[in-house]
Amino acid sequence: MANMIVAAVNANPSIVLGLATGGTPTATYANIVEDFRSGKVHFKNVTSFNLDEYIGLSGTHPQSFRHFMQSELFDHIDIDPNNTFVPEGGASDPDAHAVQYEAQIAAAGGIDLQLLGIGHNGHIAFNEPGSSPSTRTRVVELTPSTIEKNARFFASVDEVPKTAITMGIGTILEAKQILLLATGKDKAEAVRRSLKDAASEDVPASWLEQHPDVTFVLDEAAASELS
Ligand code: F6R
Repeated sequence: MANMIVAAVNANPSIVLGLATGGTPTATYANIVEDFRSGKVHFKNVTSFNLDEYIGLSGTHPQSFRHFMQSELFDHIDIDPNNTFVPEGGASDPDAHAVQYEAQIAAAGGIDLQLLGIGHNGHIAFNEPGSSPSTRTRVVELTPSTIEKNARFFASVDEVPKTAITMGIGTILEAKQILLLATGKDKAEAVRRSLKDAASEDVPASWLEQHPDVTFVLDEAAASELS
């Protein structure tokens, strides 16, 4: 995954990247940092937009996605901080901020390469089951299952925010190219349902079949229900 992203940045040094957080991409970001340190890639003219952020957490909160991106990637590469966009969890008017975020993506010329993870329930970004392919960046409520899964990053489940700002499925489908990364047996069912079931709101990642250039990058365990 890191090699694919590095190759894309080298092919287009002013690429607009869409980035994800979570447990899955940490090794990808570590490999990208390594490639930067050994001079294989530079990010001076790159712009990035993250998929989502918890509402109520400022960018300095250790569990905020902004903080994650700083510590996993941005602080270790030469990207211009002004060109790194993560929805602001502390925005005073999250609905207005969501609309502004869409406008910022459009002003940057749209996303060239979007990196995604996948939730156990088939969510992409924080588009939970029930999300239509026309959804845009907006405020959403997290499902109890997502809150429970993400509790591993917090001191207790009660500390996990219940709402988030997320790019919509429609926003994601407008990216020119999409890479979805999934690892481990516990993602196998979501991967199978995304790729094998008819597209529906039950499995938000299944809407990716409407996109002409999507690659699922899977380890054997995540791919184990496909054959
Ligand atoms: C993160 C995001 C989420 C995660 C998904 C998988 O920005 O948008 O959709 O990709 O919840 O999370 P992990 O990788 O922690 O299993």
